[in-house]
Amino acid sequence: MKIVLVVAVAENNVIGRGGALPWHLKSELGHFRRLTLNHPVLMGRNTYLSIGKPLKDRTNIVLTRKAGEAAPGLIWASSLDEGLALARADAERRGVDAVMVIGGNDVFARTLPMADRLEFTRVHASPEGDVVFPPLDLSHWMETRRERHARGPGDDHDFTVLTYERRR
Ligand SMILES: NC(=O)c1ccc[n+]([C@@H]2O[C@H](COP(=O)([O-])OP(=O)(O)OC[C@H]3O[C@@H](n4cnc5c(N)ncnc54)[C@H](OP(=O)(O)O)[C@@H]3O)[C@@H](O)[C@H]2O)c1
Repeated sequence: MKIVLVVAVAENNVIGRGGALPWHLKSELGHFRRLTLNHPVLMGRNTYLSIGKPLKDRTNIVLTRKAGEAAPGLIWASSLDEGLALARADAERRGVDAVMVIGGNDVFARTLPMADRLEFTRVHASPEGDVVFPPLDLSHWMETRRERHARGPGDDHDFTVLTYERRR
């Protein structure tokens, strides 16, 4: 199973503020949906709370060391290893070859060293924030896609969609 990180990162590496995204980017959310649909999505509890409900048509695997409330389409996992094992079983069941890791900071930091691909949106802004993406050494990664999107209706900023594949 491939490990794919899906993230939107500002130019100053900020990804979150006050338990939410520091921007409104309607077109980027569509891109996120297309990438993650019909896959297991793995996230930390704060990211789950910031979304507010399980993402539809995906298996939501949420990491917590506490107890969590049950909901359809949602599985709680108490460690990264358990979360990845659940994701692997779900990916096999769905006939897909990847788990989509969708944040936040610590979950990205722990999965970045083992990731195969990054679906990385660079948001062309430098907002204040309290959650950042971990340092990324681009020498390990090969850029295979780059698409600049001008701000559309419902978007606060321009953004660039990038794909990085790990160099082997
Ligand atoms: N821009 C983006 O692409 C993007 C993506 C995702 C999130 N965000 C933003 O980032 C913020 C949320 O991220 P965050 O870094 O604060 O939190 P987070 O990673 O979503 O959640 C952290 C929590 O997850 C649980 N957790 C993490 N690793 C674990 C492990 N190995 N084993 C068991 N439990 C584990 C713990 O929950 P317990 O405390 O319950 O034990 C921990 O407190 C929000 O502002 C959100 O909007 C942005």
